[in-house]
Amino acid sequence: MSDKAWGGRFDQELDALAARFSASVDFDQRLADQDVRGSIAHVRMLAARGVVSGADADAIVAGLSQLREEIAAGEMPWDPALEDVHMNIETRLTARIGEAGKRLHTGRSRNDQVATDMRLWTREAIDDTARRIDRLLGVLATRAAESHDHLLPGYTHLQRAQPVRLSHHLLAWAEMLERDRGRLLDARARLNECPLGSAALAGTTFPLDRDATAAALGFDRPTRNSLDAVGSRDFLLEAVGALSICAIHLSRVAEELVLWSSQEFAFVEMSDAFTTGSSIMPQKKNPDMAELVRGKTGRVVGHLVSLMMLMKALPLAYNRDMQEDKPPVFDAFDTVRDSLDVLAGCLDSARFDRARMAEALRRGFVEATEVADWLAERGVPFRDAHHVSGRLVRRCVEAGKTLPELTLDELREEHPSFDESIFAALDAETAIERRALVGGPAKAQVEAQVAALRARLAERA
Ligand code: ARG
Repeated sequence: MSDKAWGGRFDQELDALAARFSASVDFDQRLADQDVRGSIAHVRMLAARGVVSGADADAIVAGLSQLREEIAAGEMPWDPALEDVHMNIETRLTARIGEAGKRLHTGRSRNDQVATDMRLWTREAIDDTARRIDRLLGVLATRAAESHDHLLPGYTHLQRAQPVRLSHHLLAWAEMLERDRGRLLDARARLNECPLGSAALAGTTFPLDRDATAAALGFDRPTRNSLDAVGSRDFLLEAVGALSICAIHLSRVAEELVLWSSQEFAFVEMSDAFTTGSSIMPQKKNPDMAELVRGKTGRVVGHLVSLMMLMKALPLAYNRDMQEDKPPVFDAFDTVRDSLDVLAGCLDSARFDRARMAEALRRGFVEATEVADWLAERGVPFRDAHHVSGRLVRRCVEAGKTLPELTLDELREEHPSFDESIFAALDAETAIERRALVGGPAKAQVEAQVAALRARLAERA
């Protein structure tokens, strides 16, 4: 008899190439801890239901606990000939404790086992990612609290548009990340069901207590359909989908850091710890970390596409194709984790240049909307007011002036209602303070937003 678990049916050994092609233990050993915990919950339940004896269950639990320590210490000898993490663990358990080990797999299949392991792993990875998002949010809250008085142009089309506070800009990044966290947690809520008891595809004749294993593993409930439980991976599509959106947001933050640290903007100087020099140009200080966060986004979204193609048109229930779900999922989480931490480091240590921002604000006619609003508030139809303001900008461009540098006479040449009070309206701080609606850049608003963010973070800590 072959020593393989399914040996009874087979005369010949698996072809060596086929064995190498199909072995997954090189990557699925990352599921080892989840696999052992799943097995412990399963066998305890089997004993409670009288399917295996208490003595056998105790031996199995003790053996698995010992293996768990061995695995954590990096001392488990993973054998590709045993194919995957599940067979490696079961085989070693039986080698250790003897006959009892062979009873562990009663009422179970690797199909519901691997689905359970992946749900556990993904749930834990989501929790870890959510904590790291919160850490980055904490950095943003700190930097925002320090930068209410850093005024800079807000941009549309990458053209200077209207003045805002740096804190307002940083809080916009925080909003994006808050939603990313929410999306991950939404995916978590949906995936938190236990496949154990689905067995290969059609459930099992053994009187398993599915509620007990679900509860023991921290799942909210057992899955409702055995074919779906072993044959679906949309929980991974959702998780990596949420990660992809998060990565896209990180790439946008990274892109702004790249732009802002250019000499053209010079709004920020990144610390030496998160920049690199050039091997040939001594003056360079390159924002490589931000560029790599931007670049690695392609990798994460690529993993989402891999997973979607993997699942497309698969018939129910389990298919071996699904073994290929693991590398993209693991790498997507690893990449987003590091990107979050690297950006936290970049932002924590960056120095924002208030003077450069103020200078950018002076050039760019960001007061043009104030001019139009000032006229509109005095009864000029907004479209006409907009036109007058546009003509004034054109005058400035031609004369090489800024809007506040125009004289009252020059202003009056374009519209008779201008008076001295227009000059106060052109001040950036005034323009910002007049935007005091919820969500706007006025000081009271951004202060309240920082406080609210900090309160949310404190509640989640
Ligand atoms: N290594 C497999 C996977 O990751 C485990 C399930 C194998 N099931 C099977 N019937 N061959 O998908």
